[in-house]
Amino acid sequence: MCGIIGIIGKNTSTPKIVEGLRRLEYRGYDSAGIATLVNGAIERRRAEGKLKNLEAVLQANPLEGDVGIGHTRWATHGIPNEANAHPHMTAKVAMVHNGIIENFQELKEELTAKGHVFASDTDTEAVVHLITAYLDEGLSPKDATAQALNRLDGAFALAIIFAGEHDLMIGARRGSPLAIGFGDGEMYLGSDAIALSHLTNRVMYIEDGDWAVLSRSGAEVFDADGNTVERPVRVSDLSNASVGKGGYRHFMLKEIYEQPQVIGDTLSGFINPQDRTITMPDLPFDLGSVTRLTIVACGTSYYACQTARYWIEKLARIPVEVDVASEFRYREAPLVDGGAALFVSQSGETADTLAALRYAKSKGQHILSIVNVPESTISRESDGTLLTYAGPEVGVASTKAFTTQLVVLACLAIAMGRAKGTIEHDCEARLMEALIEVPARAAEVLNHDERLKELAAEIAEARDVLYLGRGTCYPIAMEGALKLKEISYIHAEGYAAGEMKHGPIALIDENVPVIVIAPTDELFEKTASNMQEVIARGGRVIFLSDEPGAKKLGKLAAATIALPQVDPFVAPILYAIPVQLLAYHTACIKGTDVDQPRNLAKSVTVE
Ligand code: AGP
Repeated sequence: MCGIIGIIGKNTSTPKIVEGLRRLEYRGYDSAGIATLVNGAIERRRAEGKLKNLEAVLQANPLEGDVGIGHTRWATHGIPNEANAHPHMTAKVAMVHNGIIENFQELKEELTAKGHVFASDTDTEAVVHLITAYLDEGLSPKDATAQALNRLDGAFALAIIFAGEHDLMIGARRGSPLAIGFGDGEMYLGSDAIALSHLTNRVMYIEDGDWAVLSRSGAEVFDADGNTVERPVRVSDLSNASVGKGGYRHFMLKEIYEQPQVIGDTLSGFINPQDRTITMPDLPFDLGSVTRLTIVACGTSYYACQTARYWIEKLARIPVEVDVASEFRYREAPLVDGGAALFVSQSGETADTLAALRYAKSKGQHILSIVNVPESTISRESDGTLLTYAGPEVGVASTKAFTTQLVVLACLAIAMGRAKGTIEHDCEARLMEALIEVPARAAEVLNHDERLKELAAEIAEARDVLYLGRGTCYPIAMEGALKLKEISYIHAEGYAAGEMKHGPIALIDENVPVIVIAPTDELFEKTASNMQEVIARGGRVIFLSDEPGAKKLGKLAAATIALPQVDPFVAPILYAIPVQLLAYHTACIKGTDVDQPRNLAKSVTVE
C-alpha cells in the first residue's frame, strides 16, 4: 500500500512528482522521496513522515531533472525512517516499489557476498542491487531488469530509472497495480489513475506479470515471458476537481456529504423507473442458477457484505456465507459446483480479497465483484463486475464507498430474488421505491450533523464505546465501531444487541457510551429491551431511531437522534451516516489525522 510515480518529462519533473505523491498519500504516508537524473547522474531527496517534510527538504535543496521517480511509503520491511525511505538506489539505478519481495533476504546474502553494501533494512533495496549486478556484467538496462524480475518472488509494482539514460524508464507489476500514463511528449508511471490525473487522462493498466519500457515516444509492454503485448489505453474519468477537498475541512467530511449524490448516481445504474424494476448489467452466468453464494471482503466492505447476507437470504432464499478474505483464502471452504462468489472492494486492489477471488476461481465458482475502481485488478479478474459510482474516495476511512456498496448489494439482492422467482413484481417495485427515496433521506440525515457533533464531545472522553444493532443494522453497529476506532483511536465494539447480555453487558457503566441503532422495524421491540438492560445498569445511551421510535423510547436515552422513517429494507444505508459523523467529529475533537489515520493506508495491497 505504498504509492509510486515516475515521469519522463519535457521539463523539471519534481513539481509534477510531488503533486502525484500528494494524490497518492492516501496509500501510505510513513515517508516520501524523489530521485531524478541530473546531468546523467542520479540525485535523491527523502524525508521521514508526511509529504510536507519532503517538500521542506526540496525547498531547502531543490532537485532538477526531467526524468524522475517518487514514492510515498507505508512501511512493510524496515521502520519508517529516512534510510528506509524510497527511492532506493546505487550509482547506476534508482527504483521505487509498492509490494513485498518475499525472497529479499536470500538475494541480499547473495549480493553481499559479491561485495554489495546495503544502506537500508528494506526488501526493495535488494532489487536495486540485483539490477546493478546485472548492469555490472554488461547487460543493458532492459536485459538487466528482465533478468532481475525473473529472480523475484512476491508482489511488486516498480518504477526504475538508470544513470545516463535520459529517455528511459522501466515499470513492472506483479500483484500490485501499475498504470502507464500517456502525455504530450511525456510518459508516466503511477500506482493508479488518481496519481496521474493532473498529468493525463489517457491511462493503460498493465496486467499481472507485465513489464514495460518507456521513452518519451511511448511504451513497449512485455508479458512475463518477454513477448510484446498490447494493453488497452483508457480515458480515465478523474477530473482535477474530484480529488480536491472542495472547501471541506477534511476529505472524509466531503465524502460523507457527497453520499446523497453518489448514492443517487449509483442507483441510476441499476434502476428502471419506467417499469419499476432493478436492471443488472449482463452477467456471464444466470443469477437464478446460483444455489449458494459466498461473499468475501475486508474491513468496511466486509460489513456491507454482512448486511447483504440478510437481504439476499430473505429475498432470494439461498444460503449466503460471508467471510473476511484473510480467513477465507486459507480455510479451504468447500464450495459447491455452480456456486457463485462475490468480492466487494472499494479499491479493487486489496491483496487478501484478490487472493480469495483467485482461490474461488480455482474452485470453479462464478466470480462477481463490486468495486469503485473500474480498471482495478479485482474487477479485471472477475467474470462480472458491478460498479459503485462513489467517485474517488481519498479519506482512508471509507464512507461513501460503503453506502454505495450497500446500494449495489441491495439491488443485487432484489435481482436475485426476481431471478429465483422468490419475490413478486410488487415486492420488487416496493423495494425499488424505498431505494429511490434514499438520496433525499440521506440529505435529511445530514441535517443532524450539528447535534452529532455535540454528542461526539461525550464520546471523545470515553475509553470504550459499544455499538448495538440487530438484523441488517447489526453490521452497521460493527461499521460504526470500526469508524470510531480507526480515526479517533478510541476502542469500540459493535455487537448484536441480543448478544450483549451474554458477556459485554459487564462493561456497562456510566463511563461507557452505548450507541443503539434501532429503526422501528420488526426487531425494534427486542432492541428496546436490550436498551433498557443497558440503562438499568447506568449505561448512557445515544439512541439512533426514527420518529416513532424516538417517541416510544427517546426519553429513556441520554440523547436521541430521530432519523427519517424509511422502509426497514433501506434503513442500514441511512443509519451508516450518523455513525460516520459521530466518528468524524470525535476524531476532530481528539485532534487525530482524520484523512490519514496513524498506521493505516487506503488500499492494503500486501498480505
Ligand atoms: C475502511 O474504513 C477501512 N479503512 C478498511 O477497513 C477498508 O474497508 C478495507 O481495507 C477494505 O478495502 P477495500 O474495500 O478497498 O478492499
